[in-house]
Amino acid sequence: MWGEVPVRSGTMPNVQRVVVVGSGGREHALASVLGRTAEVVVTPGSAGIPGSVDTSPEELDADLFVIGPEVPLVEGLADRLRAQGKLVFGPGADGAELEGSKAVMKEVVAAAGVPTARYGAFDELAPALDFLRSLPGPYVVKTDGLAAGKGVLVTPNLIDAEDDVRAKLAGDSFGDAGHTVVIEECLVGPELSILAVCDGHKAVALAPAQDFKRVGDGGTGPNTGGMGAYSPVPGADEAVVQTVLDDFVVPTLAELRRRGIDYRGVLYAGLMLTDEGPKLIEYNVRFGDPESQVVLPRLTSDLAQLLAEAAAGSIDHEPTFTDDACVTVACASEFYPATPRLGDVIEGLRAAGEREGVEIFFAGVESEGDDLVTSGGRVLYVTATAPTIEEARDRAYEGVGRISWPGMHHRSDIAADPT
Ligand code: AMP
Ligand code: GLY
Repeated sequence: MWGEVPVRSGTMPNVQRVVVVGSGGREHALASVLGRTAEVVVTPGSAGIPGSVDTSPEELDADLFVIGPEVPLVEGLADRLRAQGKLVFGPGADGAELEGSKAVMKEVVAAAGVPTARYGAFDELAPALDFLRSLPGPYVVKTDGLAAGKGVLVTPNLIDAEDDVRAKLAGDSFGDAGHTVVIEECLVGPELSILAVCDGHKAVALAPAQDFKRVGDGGTGPNTGGMGAYSPVPGADEAVVQTVLDDFVVPTLAELRRRGIDYRGVLYAGLMLTDEGPKLIEYNVRFGDPESQVVLPRLTSDLAQLLAEAAAGSIDHEPTFTDDACVTVACASEFYPATPRLGDVIEGLRAAGEREGVEIFFAGVESEGDDLVTSGGRVLYVTATAPTIEEARDRAYEGVGRISWPGMHHRSDIAADPT
């Protein structure tokens, strides 16, 4: 009988009200799962996310603030909220540099001894081209700053890679983000995302996920912010997760501490499972989008408690997950990821949401009268939970099949061949 009473440590923050900052599918998933145990307010949110308010987070009160996107983190929102005495899950501007600058990330990772691709960071054309030509190819050329997942070229063609280096150094492609270029050795293998919740010293891993970055089936076409995801990942067993915690995340937290950075938030390791073991492609300083849409619904423990403990500097409870699988499929506007067409009325939402195990997380919608209309490139995610990946995939695609607007597109191979 007593075993059913949740055990709370003396220092556990009591989380009754949470503010989530952001407006996309990730924030909708965060709000949905945090909402199991707490009242949730989302700012700015959207017409598709319950509890959305148009008030700045600095003017809101809550027991816990969770910052979703990278841009406010890089701009120091966590620091400003902490300065007001608020409990915040998300790194300060210093820690967020790990995502804000790929050159900084590579330098921290090298100092921490984390396995990653060989690289060079350049401001000048001649040494950049010399380094590029010294690599065997395929070639990986990245813009240094934030580029919404679209600043990376991976190509077997040296001429294309050289042109991309020139464009990025000239700042033509991504404005300020483009003046430093990072060139990397190409890693080969399946990709894996591991989201580690960090309290400054320790980290616990959430369930692994795989996302799909290219717009087209079979990994074709340009990179996007993410066209779908699934969790669990059959090839990512506990040993892989432990290796990533022990050899990647914990040494990185130690290196950050050495630099005076107390990192409390998600450290998202984007990994390539190479023949030589996992290698780091990148760190993000926030929950993955759309990984959150498949990882968070699988939680069986209290998310608000976990994030509050991390924000307070002491994680005391390991997260637990259901064995059920989760699959999410992004439905995008016509022409996304180039210049999406907006303002189309979305049909079939009610019918899709009625399918057993299906939940819709909204990303780019606004209301027009009684309708929801498209207002972004990635419009919504149809997420389904079921006992197996295959069943979850079937349910998700059945939901997708009930939704429509002119020009809507999605990948049809999400979780078709789980690795
Ligand atoms: P990033 O923005 O650094 O996550 O890169 C976006 C995508 O580009 C990754 O998910 C990979 O698919 C690909 N990529 C980035 N770096 C490499 C690399 N060194 N080798 C192979 N593929 C890469
Ligand atoms: N799923 C890729 C990202 O969140 O950056």
